[in-house]
Amino acid sequence: MTQQSVDSGTAVGSGVDAGPWWQDSVGYEIYVRSFADSDGDGIGDLAGIADKLGYLSDLGIDFIWVTPFYPSPMADWGYDVADFCGVDPAFGSLADLDRLLDQAHERSMRVVIDVVPNHTSHQHAWFRSAQADPNGPYRDYYIWRDPAPDGGPPNNWVGYFGGSAWTLDEASGQYYLHLFLPEQPDLNWRNPAVHEEFDGIIRFWLDRGVDGFRIDVAGGLVKDVDLRSNPEIGVWDPAGTRWEQWESFDHLYDVFQPESLDIFRRWRSIVDEYGAWLMGETYTLEPEGLARLVPGDGLHSGFWFEPMHIDWDVDQIRKALVPPADLLGDRLLWAASSHDMPRSPTHFGGGDQGRSRTLALNVLFSCLPGVPVFYQGEELGLVDGIVPPSAKLDPVGSEGDVAAGRDGCRTPMPWRPGGQNGFTEGTPWLSSSQRDEDETAEAQAVEAGSWYHQYRSLLAARRGIGPLTGEDVHWEDDGVGPVVRYRRGPVSVAANVSDEPVTVPVSGSVGLVFSMAGVVHVDGCVELPAHGAAIWT
Ligand code: GLC
Repeated sequence: MTQQSVDSGTAVGSGVDAGPWWQDSVGYEIYVRSFADSDGDGIGDLAGIADKLGYLSDLGIDFIWVTPFYPSPMADWGYDVADFCGVDPAFGSLADLDRLLDQAHERSMRVVIDVVPNHTSHQHAWFRSAQADPNGPYRDYYIWRDPAPDGGPPNNWVGYFGGSAWTLDEASGQYYLHLFLPEQPDLNWRNPAVHEEFDGIIRFWLDRGVDGFRIDVAGGLVKDVDLRSNPEIGVWDPAGTRWEQWESFDHLYDVFQPESLDIFRRWRSIVDEYGAWLMGETYTLEPEGLARLVPGDGLHSGFWFEPMHIDWDVDQIRKALVPPADLLGDRLLWAASSHDMPRSPTHFGGGDQGRSRTLALNVLFSCLPGVPVFYQGEELGLVDGIVPPSAKLDPVGSEGDVAAGRDGCRTPMPWRPGGQNGFTEGTPWLSSSQRDEDETAEAQAVEAGSWYHQYRSLLAARRGIGPLTGEDVHWEDDGVGPVVRYRRGPVSVAANVSDEPVTVPVSGSVGLVFSMAGVVHVDGCVELPAHGAAIWT
C-alpha cells in the first residue's frame, strides 16, 4: 500500500502553500492494453507500466492516467466494467497495482485511474441480478422502461456509438438504457444506493493509494427524471455515422443534467480528505458548457476536446485556445490526442508535417493555465498505426463504418525496432503493421533532435520555468496573423500556424528556453519555420 505518499494534496516536494499537486504538472495517458506487455500474452499490463516508469520519468512526466484495468468481458476493451474493485487477470492483480503505485510514488510520480460510473458491463453482478429479478433491489440500479405504445423504445434517445440507446430485455418485456453498447447498461444515478456504492468504490482505490480519478462520461451520469425525448434537429438516419446520428438531436434530456454536478460535489468531499484529484471526461465543444461542468466545487479539472476536432487553421486554433483559457483557466486539461480519436499527427495531415503541427500545438498548451496530458507515443510523433480491415477490433465502426473505429490510435507502443516492436514477446492483441525503426522509443532516444528529444526538452523547459499558476495570459497577437502568441508571467510562447516561415519581432534581447527544430533567434526577432514554435523569456 502506498498511503504514505498521499500525505497531502500539495506538489511533490513543495510546501503546503504550493497548491494542489497537479498544478503546473504534465500528464501522460496510458492505454493499458497497448502500452507494455510484461508476460508475453500479447496484452499490455500493470507490471509492464511499472517497467516503463523510468522512461516516463526521463521524459518529464508528473502523473500517469491509466485506462480501465478492471475485470471486464472487453466488449468495449475495459470500459465495460464487471467489478469496480478488482483487476482483470489480463492486466495483472491487485498486488501489481500496489507495486505500480509504490514504484511510481518512489519516483514522485502520481497515478490517476479511470472510473467508469455511467454504466457497468452487462456481466456485472448488479446487472445480472437486475435482469434475473425485476422485483429485486438491483433492478433500480439501472434504467428500465416499458415499451412505447407501438412496442418500440421508450423515447428517441440514440447512443454515442449510434443506434437507439435502448435494448429490449425479452424476459421482462422492458427496455434498458445504454448510452454506449448494449453490453454497457447505464446506471440509475437517481437511486441513492448507486451513490453509496460509488462512495465505497472511490474510497477503496484512495485507500490503496491512487492519486486521482479520470471520470468517464462525466457529463452524462444523471438523466432527465421523466426521460423525455430529445428534440430532433436534423433527420435521424440510423444508417448515418455515429456523429451524424448524435448530432441529429438537441441533447436536452439525456446528457448534461445539472444533477450530475451534485455527484462530483459529494466525491469532492471524499477525495479532498486524501488530496486526490477529480478530472472529468467532459465532452462538450462549448467553453461555456465545459465551465458549467467544472464549476469549481465538484470536478477539479475537465478535458477540453476542441483541439482534437479543429483543422490546422489559425482562426480555429485561436478559437480552440483563447476562449477556454480565458474562461476556465487552471481547471482545463489540454490534450491533442487520446485513445478515442485519431492521433494528432494523423489528424493534422500525417508525416512530419502532422508531427510538427502537433508539437507546435503542445508548445502552445505548455504554458497556458491548466494541465497538458500527452497520449502514449505522442512523444515519438506517432501517427495512427495501420490495422488491416480484417483485424479491426473496436466495436465502434465494426459494422461497415470502418473509418469511425478507434483501432488506429490504439496500436501497441513501439519500444524497439523489429519483431513486435518490443511491446510483447507474444502475439499482440491488436495486429498492426510493424513501425519503422525511427518511430521507436529506442531509436529516438539515441538520435539528437528526434521527436522524443524535442518533447523531452519541452517538458524540461516547462519545469525549468517554474510555477505559472496565478499568472494571467496576455494574448499578444491581437487575434490576427499566422502566429498565435501569448505572454504569461516571464515567458512568451509563439507558434507559426502557416506553411511559410515567419519572423516574429521581439523587444530587447530574449533567451530561448525551448525551440523546435529550425527556430532561429537573431537580434530583435525570432524566426519560426512553417509550423514551428518556441518559448522565450
Ligand atoms: C469514454 C471512453 C471511451 C469509451 C466510452 C464508453 O468516452 O474514453 O473509450 O468507449 O467512454 O465507456
